[in-house]
Amino acid sequence: MALNFIDHQDLAANSGRVLDMIDPATGEAFETIARSDASDIDAAVRAAQACRDGVWGRTSAAERSRLMMAWSQAVQAHADELALLEQRDCGKPTAQARADVAALVRYLAFYAGAADKLTGETIPYQDGYSVLTWREPHGVTGHIIPWNYPMQIFGRSVGGALAAGNVCVVKPAEDACLSLIRVAQLGRDAGLPAGCLNIVTGLGAEVGEALARHPGIQHISFTGSPRIGTLIQQVAAERHIPVTLELGGKSPQIVFNDADMDAAVPVIVNAIVQNAGQTCSAGSRLLVQREAYEPLLARLAQAFAALRCGPPQGPVDVGPLIRASQLERVHQFLAQAEADGIPTVATGQVTADAPAGGFYQAPVLLRDVPVAHRIAQEEVFGPVLSAMAFEDEDHAIELANATDFGLVAGVWTADGSRQFRMAKRVQAGQVFVNNYGAGGGVELPFGGVKSSGHGREKGFEALYAFTNLKTVAFRHG
Ligand code: NAI
Ligand code: MG
Repeated sequence: MALNFIDHQDLAANSGRVLDMIDPATGEAFETIARSDASDIDAAVRAAQACRDGVWGRTSAAERSRLMMAWSQAVQAHADELALLEQRDCGKPTAQARADVAALVRYLAFYAGAADKLTGETIPYQDGYSVLTWREPHGVTGHIIPWNYPMQIFGRSVGGALAAGNVCVVKPAEDACLSLIRVAQLGRDAGLPAGCLNIVTGLGAEVGEALARHPGIQHISFTGSPRIGTLIQQVAAERHIPVTLELGGKSPQIVFNDADMDAAVPVIVNAIVQNAGQTCSAGSRLLVQREAYEPLLARLAQAFAALRCGPPQGPVDVGPLIRASQLERVHQFLAQAEADGIPTVATGQVTADAPAGGFYQAPVLLRDVPVAHRIAQEEVFGPVLSAMAFEDEDHAIELANATDFGLVAGVWTADGSRQFRMAKRVQAGQVFVNNYGAGGGVELPFGGVKSSGHGREKGFEALYAFTNLKTVAFRHG
């Protein structure tokens, strides 16, 4: 039985209720978590406030840095255990589960290194004045984490918040909590003070909303669906607190005739099958210039047909989806595409040893997808790639920008001037030229435009979001 982590204590929900955790590989329950409510959130916020008003508020930036580095090393030392937990909880293939632990280690190390380098400015002003700025933590920050990359999204969010001097209350997704509870316990072992990091599990509507509404919370980071993102922003608006929202994408890979196809093909495939397509920055739309369209689709067809989807412990390219309803959602998208006559180019295979109760979806490559079709507009969050052809740069930009989202874009071309023009014109928070994703890039500011959200996580930029800037003017004559 996995418990909440509040004020360094492992606690059941006040109500005593629990939720089953389902193994996506089998569809079977294997563990329970606390089904918390507003009273558990209240306890966590109080513990965080006491820590902020006490020991954390007096902890120097250099000491925060030292503690976070020790925590990073503790996570590293438990990498195998954490990867196995994440695999069981989320159905991640072994390499992905290990990569997620490595990313968390890196986030904690990066923000440990940044904690004592967050400085203000002095501003030249009128004679007789000295003006400077201080970056002050918000106080108690709330973090609502999704299930697709629990450790990575925890790392980029909580790492920056703690480094900047905040104290945190975290609500993991009900589908995937176990790794984060363990990571918090490792923080306790590494010397983080009681109350600076608290984890409360349960359902979004019961405990996520209670966190967002709690009057003791001064900033909310949310990664998840646009629908809940709207709700979070509305709740935050009532108390005028800032939010960082990362609400996914429908990110285009834009391939010109002159692209290096040998380099592009494996990256295009990985960008949609990684984590079974359940990735906010998945390259889910493929825009190809007319002359290259058929040859590239032929190569991708071969690659897709060879993809193996199966139990994540095995030698597979794709593991199961997170839960039955996510599989059903992907089925609905594919059924509608078929009913509307969208051709399938290729489909991967589900391996024979995949348990019937698991949530397996083989990768699918679709072609000639109309840009306005639902499958080209909405996040499928499954291994489904929608290809379409374009004529020239203007047409490519028109298609690329024709969704509500704007998170990430990939541009593939050998023409240097075109690389710059495309990077400027495409609506996205990150653009990758002749690569995609840059391996996650802890150092690289990340976030969206349009319905993909606002605010930036990762890199040094995230630290600014976790502080208030105070301008102080001294008049000394
Ligand atoms: P969701 O937005 O419901 O869940 C994300 C997080 O929000 C979870 O921790 C959940 O417990 C919490 N939450 C849910 N309702 C809440 C509420 N009323 N108040 C506060 N917190 C709440 O997303 P869901 O249902 O798991 O997935 C649906 C779709 O959302 C996916 O198919 C995908 O398209 C998108 N999504 C995008 C993610 C991204 O990385 N941008 C991550 C997860 C989902
Ligand atoms: Mg699970």
